[in-house]
Parts: sequence; C-alpha cells; structure tokens
Amino acid sequence: MSNTVELLKKLGYSEKAQEYFVEKKNLGKIENASVFSSYTGPCGDTMEIYLKIKDNIIKQAKFQTTGCAGALVSGSALCDMISGITISKAGKIKTEDIVKHLGDMPGVKVHCSELAKRTLRKVIEKYLKV
Ligand code: FES
Repeated sequence: MSNTVELLKKLGYSEKAQEYFVEKKNLGKIENASVFSSYTGPCGDTMEIYLKIKDNIIKQAKFQTTGCAGALVSGSALCDMISGITISKAGKIKTEDIVKHLGDMPGVKVHCSELAKRTLRKVIEKYLKV
C-alpha cells in the first residue's frame, strides 16, 4: 500500500474510494465529446466533465480536475455512475448518491463530491440548451 493510500484510509476514505484513487478511472478528455464544460467550486478547484451522448444515453464520461483526492475519486465515481444512463437520470444524481457510491468519504470532503455533481449539472444544462 502506498503512503498516500494509507493516508486516505486514515482520513476515512472507504476501500472503494481508495481504489478509485489508485486506478484514476475515467480521468482524461474525450476527443469529439458531445458536450463538455467546467465548473469552479467555492474551494477554488475546478472540474471538467466530457460526455459522449447518443439517443439521450451517456455512452462515455470522462473528467479532469485541479482538485484534491476527494475530487479525483468523486469524478471517477460519478463518470462510472452515469455511463449507460439517460441524461435526465444523470441530472438527478445528488451529492449523497456519489458519496454512497464511494462507500464513504471524510465529512470535510463531501464538498468535493458536490463539485463533481455541480459540474455534471452544468454540462447537462449546456447540452440541453444546444
Ligand atoms: Fe477543492 Fe477538494 S478541496 S475539490
């Protein structure tokens, strides 16, 4: 176990969250994305989410962030959660749903999951306006 993962464990990140941190799943850009946008949260960190959409279904989702470990695992988890579902269902995902999917997050890091949710909502809003 790396020192960082050990630290995450100590801070209260679940095993699943630790795995997301190590794998960095869904991290990156989608070339020719149907839509993408970024959002900067009150902590000053930014997330960017890219979606590939076909017939209102999210076929692929990726993200990038300048944020912390909490943002990294939240972005990874959220992209997993929305892959294969409709835009309208994805737009209803709440911060608590992301935390629940991750297993657990330190309370002080829940706002990082909020950053992921808000970014997704902004991307969806942009898509629906086009
Ligand atoms: Fe800014 Fe976690 S502190 S995203």
